[in-house]
Amino acid sequence: MTYSVSQLLTQDITLQPVEIKGWVRTFRANRFIALNDGSTIHNIQCVVDFENTDEALLKRITTGAAVHIKGELVESQGKGQKVEIQVNKIEILGDADADDYPIQPKKHSFEFLRENAHLRTRTNTFSAVMRLRSSLSFAIHKYFNENGFYYMHTPIITGSDAEGAGEMFRVSTLDAKNPPLTDQGEVNYKEDFFGKETNLTVSGQLEAETFAMALGKVYTFGPTFRAENSNTSRHLAEFWMIEPEVAFMDLDGNMDLAEDFMKFVLSYVLKHNQDDLEFLDKRLQDEEKTKPQAERSEMNLIEKIKFVVDNNFKRVSYTEAIDILRNSKPNKKKKFNYIIEEWGADLQSEHERFLVEKHFKCPVILFDYPANIKAFYMRLNEDGKTVRAMDILFPGIGEMVGGSQREERLEVLKEKMNALGIPEEELWWYLDLRKYGTAVHSGFGLGFERLVMFATGMSNIRDVIPYPRTPQNAEF
Ligand code: 4AD
Ligand code: MG
Repeated sequence: MTYSVSQLLTQDITLQPVEIKGWVRTFRANRFIALNDGSTIHNIQCVVDFENTDEALLKRITTGAAVHIKGELVESQGKGQKVEIQVNKIEILGDADADDYPIQPKKHSFEFLRENAHLRTRTNTFSAVMRLRSSLSFAIHKYFNENGFYYMHTPIITGSDAEGAGEMFRVSTLDAKNPPLTDQGEVNYKEDFFGKETNLTVSGQLEAETFAMALGKVYTFGPTFRAENSNTSRHLAEFWMIEPEVAFMDLDGNMDLAEDFMKFVLSYVLKHNQDDLEFLDKRLQDEEKTKPQAERSEMNLIEKIKFVVDNNFKRVSYTEAIDILRNSKPNKKKKFNYIIEEWGADLQSEHERFLVEKHFKCPVILFDYPANIKAFYMRLNEDGKTVRAMDILFPGIGEMVGGSQREERLEVLKEKMNALGIPEEELWWYLDLRKYGTAVHSGFGLGFERLVMFATGMSNIRDVIPYPRTPQNAEF
């Protein structure tokens, strides 16, 4: 019977003939194979009877080789594992040239592993990260499914700019070297594939709103694209976003939903990914030890996740946050790159991190931002200058979630669009939602990779997605 390593290590099936397939992590003393098949962070030890094994075959048991092993599962004589396989037969399925195979059993830098991203998932760190990524995705669907949400697929190619940020990837089949021109000498997109300018989506929100206004509670979870040229450890050009949208829900309900949702998915991995979390926790502790004392985190990874699960997020208005920041030490001593002088300033990540990491020391939900630093669709407050926006800020990450109550009043929305020069014709269908059966509704977007960063303790977003797309990089 063929088993996975995870099954062999967790079930009581000693002394049965077992079969297993996997990749050799190490081969020690011509005798001990540490075999991994991706099902768990742990390897299974396979003990080769080297005296009765062909020497040429022994030579082919190298790190990275794929093997098929038949043998018996027995209680281990050695330390470090409960059971091991006494090998009766070993077949090499695929050799890995020892002089050539990049993933050797030693510490590789994350930079090196990014260049070998097609093989890096064979390391402990990246296999743990990818299993957690998978588990978090599952927990996300589970949460929404159990709470009456429908999963909607919003288009990847769109003709509208949901965030009004203008940082989009154009989708076109026109010949870039020789595009058709209008009489005015501009590129004639009427002749393009869709007969208009189209882009990769920056958010599924606007379409998700149409579904919420029919099905009540919906969510999207899909790839999202931003052509912002920000080469930071928290930005990707292609990332995954989770966007719930709910009819008849206001901003308070939106905050409750976001908090409950995040706590659920994080508790899910605490429960189901213990081994991987313990490994990543230790990895992070080793990394922290290399930092100066003052920069070390007070909590280890699992403690940080538990802390988020067990404590209320702090809810603070933008206005309160500005007061805190204005009176803060780094502001007074001009330690911030952007000094906060007055109400209305856009918050930079240094300010967000000060609030969560130094001041409140817990996740913070900031709400009621100035209208002119937020997107056009957010609901205007009675004060006429703030909107019902919320951002959720996380320690070590900064902005994790951005959301809002949506402007449901046709006239107010039109005015806002006109002021920003967004043509009504482009979003006629979005405006229709406000004409026919409009109602209070809200939603948010959670950057999936930022959540994976938090749950794994990885500090660069390029290391939590299989193949990162960033400026000047689209390998694999
Ligand atoms: O704050 P954002 O831009 O919000 C929206 O797109 C809304 N339409 C969401 C909604 O209300 N339905 O993006 C949401 C989240 C951010 O908080 C961040 O976590 C993540 O998406 N994000 C990115 N993650 C990785 N790389 C980037 N370039 C990101 N830009 C945003
Ligand atoms: Mg945002």
